[in-house]
Amino acid sequence: MTAGLEMVAVVAMAQNRVIGDGTGLLWHLPADLKRVKALTMGCPLIMGRRTWDSIGRALPGRASIVMTRDAGWTGEGALRAAGMDEALDLARDWIDGTEGARPEIILFGGGEIYAAGLALTNRIELTVVEIESDGGPAAAVFPELAPAIWDRQVLEQVPADGEVPAHRYERLTRKLPVLV
Ligand SMILES: NC(=O)c1ccc[n+]([C@@H]2O[C@H](COP(=O)([O-])OP(=O)(O)OC[C@H]3O[C@@H](n4cnc5c(N)ncnc54)[C@H](OP(=O)(O)O)[C@@H]3O)[C@@H](O)[C@H]2O)c1
Repeated sequence: MTAGLEMVAVVAMAQNRVIGDGTGLLWHLPADLKRVKALTMGCPLIMGRRTWDSIGRALPGRASIVMTRDAGWTGEGALRAAGMDEALDLARDWIDGTEGARPEIILFGGGEIYAAGLALTNRIELTVVEIESDGGPAAAVFPELAPAIWDRQVLEQVPADGEVPAHRYERLTRKLPVLV
């Protein structure tokens, strides 16, 4: 059984912390989607049922662990979890049983799942989209981060290009590591 795994949150948020309108994203950043793919390939993803609905399918090369309180829920290619503990158990089992799996559990969103898993997250791979976004009445947001807890590193600044807004990639690492 794998012990001492790291949980990594992967998220893109607007400057006002909005990550989506409850059913989808509010921007289209093709380079960021590629980055997310590279960051998550070979890993189990823990996501909320609404994020699963917004993606609409299991992502190849990764496990899709979907948190829902609906005991009867099923999704093709998804593993259902009734809560964070069960999601983490499924993620560890998937890593143990999958050749070539990487020892990282990805906290994949949305807002409710980031809030539920942040205390167990060691690293955040953050894309800050440099816009203020109106997510509407069902807006999902990424939680506030206390600077005392996180070391922040700006990895890359990307200027606006046509329809694509300026954005930057940041890595936040917990000063006191936590393992799951
Ligand atoms: N920008 C980004 O990086 C990013 C990433 C991911 C998602 N998003 C966006 O975020 C939005 C969705 O976020 P959201 O906060 O509305 O929903 P969500 O976190 O994706 O899913 C919420 C659902 O997860 C289940 N859930 C939540 N907490 C649970 C718990 N403790 N135990 C068991 N099940 C639990 C419930 O499902 P049931 O109702 O079925 O019980 C709940 O309705 C979308 O707009 C999506 O596009 C953005």
